[in-house]
Formats: sequence, structure tokens, C-alpha cells
Amino acid sequence: MATGSVWQVTREKQHYFDLLASTWDKGMAAEVLSGLGNIVEEVGIVPGSRVVDLGSGTGVLLPFLISQLGNEGKIIALDFSAAMLREAKARNFPALVSFVQADVHEIPLADNCIDLAICNNAFPHFVDKGRALKEIARILREDGRLVICHTMSWERINNLHRSLGGVVASDLIPEKSILQGLIAKARLEVVRFEDSEQRYLVVARKVTRSFMVEKFLRLDAIYGNSYQSQTNNRR
Ligand SMILES: C[S@@+](CC[C@H](N)C(=O)[O-])C[C@H]1O[C@@H](n2cnc3c(N)ncnc32)[C@H](O)[C@@H]1O
Repeated sequence: MATGSVWQVTREKQHYFDLLASTWDKGMAAEVLSGLGNIVEEVGIVPGSRVVDLGSGTGVLLPFLISQLGNEGKIIALDFSAAMLREAKARNFPALVSFVQADVHEIPLADNCIDLAICNNAFPHFVDKGRALKEIARILREDGRLVICHTMSWERINNLHRSLGGVVASDLIPEKSILQGLIAKARLEVVRFEDSEQRYLVVARKVTRSFMVEKFLRLDAIYGNSYQSQTNNRR
């Protein structure tokens, strides 16, 4: 997709979510909240971590993240919808939470500064998923993790968006192998994948340089010198 059209679709979605902001929390069932609490707990967030909630909306995830961090660390709630962030700010979260209005395709954060990036119910809406994943990988420190989560199955999420129609009709999560390919291209590695009635959960970690070297050595062991000399010849 050309950059111009990404920008245009992104603007349309921004408007769509602005309109939903004031009623967003009304649709939040208790079982959804408890499912989210479980996910955040299982992911294992270390107190003192720097966490970014990508597509944070009205801040549904924030209480769970705060309780894991125990007031140590930092949470950045990032969303491109000003109205969603306004709702979140009105909830008066403690000072470890800050808010950033930005597009996930161009995250205004430094390289390697985040321990955990989490996207609840937001990833399908990212217009250029490959580019978003590369941006997320850029801000993660080595070994930092990305969590993509939903409290329903892959099939239900995609059917829900198809049935909503309009600007979100094609906001689908790619099938597993395609998503894994996009994640790998961003220099992330899937370490956990779950797709059940209750949840869709992907955890990926930023691959370290030594991991890349190990991978290269493994290829070398399989293909022998031919792999190395072919690679050298290409230089
Ligand atoms: C379905 S809502 C989920 C909100 C929240 N995470 C939750 O679970 O309630 C998706 C959110 O992602 C945000 N979003 C979608 N595309 C985005 C983008 N490209 N950059 C930043 N935020 C985005 C929307 O504004 C919206 O608040």
C-alpha cells in the first residue's frame, strides 16, 4: 500500500475511533475484564519496567498494568485518537502513566527504550502491519517483548470486524504463518501463540544480535561452507 493511502485510511480510522470514545467503556463485560487481567498477569511484567500500551483507547488495560508494576516503572498510553485519550486522562491514573497521541506507524519514542509493548484489541486496526511491527521492534530493547492480545478467538475477531463493516471491515489479523513472517521480518521472534475460544495471544521478543549469529551458525552447520561462501560471494 502506498504511503499516501496508508495516511488517508489512518485518518478515516482516527475519526471512527474519535466518535466511539465516549461510549467505549459501556461495552466492557466483566468476563472480558477478567480475561484481560489474566493475560496481563501471565505475561509477567517486572516492576520497574517501561511499558507502552499501543492503541490504549480509554485505558482499559491500564489498571491491570499498574497493578503489575506496583507504582514502579513507566506506562505510556499511546493512541492516535484524541477523544479516546481524553476519556483515559479523565480516569486520573497515577503519575507513572503518561499519554501520547501518535500513530503506531510513527512512534515518537527513542530506539530500544521499552521493555514491553502491548496491544489489546488494536493490532487488527493497524493499516500497515509490517511497518507497525518494525516501529514496535525499533522501540523495544533487545529481548523486550511485544504482546498482541484479544479476549476472543482469531476467527471471532475477524468475523466481528467483517460484520461491523465500514472502515474496519478489512481490519483482520493475518493467519498465523503470515503474521509470523511479518513478525520475523521485524526482527522479532514468536515465543508464545494461543488461539482459543477465550483468547488470541501472541508474545514475541526482540531478537538479540547473538541470537542472529547463532541462527547463522546453525544454517552454516546444516549447509556447511557452501552457505557461508554463497553469503560471502553476495557481498
Ligand atoms: C478497538 S480499540 C481498543 C482500545 C483499547 N486497547 C481497549 O482494549 O479497549 C482500538 C484502539 O486503537 C487505536 N488505534 C487504531 N489504529 C491506531 C494507530 N494506527 N495508531 C494509534 N492508535 C491506533 C484506536 O484509536 C482505538 O483507541
